[in-house]
Amino acid sequence: MDETAAIARLEACGVIPVVVIEDASRAIDLAHALVAGGIDVVEVTLRRPAGLAALEAIARSVPGALPVAGTVVTPAQVQQVKDAGAKAVVSPGFSEAVDEALKAAGLPWLPGVATASDCMRAVAAGRIVAKFFPAETAGGPPALKALSGPFPQMRFCPTGGVGLNNLGSYLALPQVICVGGSWLVPADAIASGDWARVTRLAKEASEAFRALRG
Ligand code: 3PG
Repeated sequence: MDETAAIARLEACGVIPVVVIEDASRAIDLAHALVAGGIDVVEVTLRRPAGLAALEAIARSVPGALPVAGTVVTPAQVQQVKDAGAKAVVSPGFSEAVDEALKAAGLPWLPGVATASDCMRAVAAGRIVAKFFPAETAGGPPALKALSGPFPQMRFCPTGGVGLNNLGSYLALPQVICVGGSWLVPADAIASGDWARVTRLAKEASEAFRALRG
């Protein structure tokens, strides 16, 4: 999948669930629960040892969900997530080494940016779609608006402190293509297999997105 197609999937999904998973055997049910609620992109972070196997299980068994690797911070992880079947990659920050590894792997990438210097490095590398992270602590919508002054070409996925209560203030900005967050995929719901709750949270989020963006 090329970069344009991957970005279009994120943009159409609107709210990207950021998954922290302790047990890979839960991944397939989790992805089905999200898809049932209208969320068809799943960012599986590498924050726990089970992350890679969870990503692989979703890529192999849930064709309706776009598997995205999150929290990719080293070049070595790039090959691992490519082998696991990731179709796009998200990082919390920007690194030239990770940028080069992703270009060599041919995978779309949303680097994380929080400052003008981060944006300069991203733009210099030809990366104009970025995760704005940590969105709320980095200044929220006013900070994003300010960054768009010098970087009008950039598009953002704000993540970090975003929830149902404030997603509207991000989605009101035209430079925002989607938002991300962990609130759709609570750790206790994953641990107890409460898939109805995950589907309800996904539905709520996707309906909120559609009400704002059509
Ligand atoms: C991320 O890395 O994307 C964040 O940890 C998600 O932030 P949230 O937990 O505040 O949604």
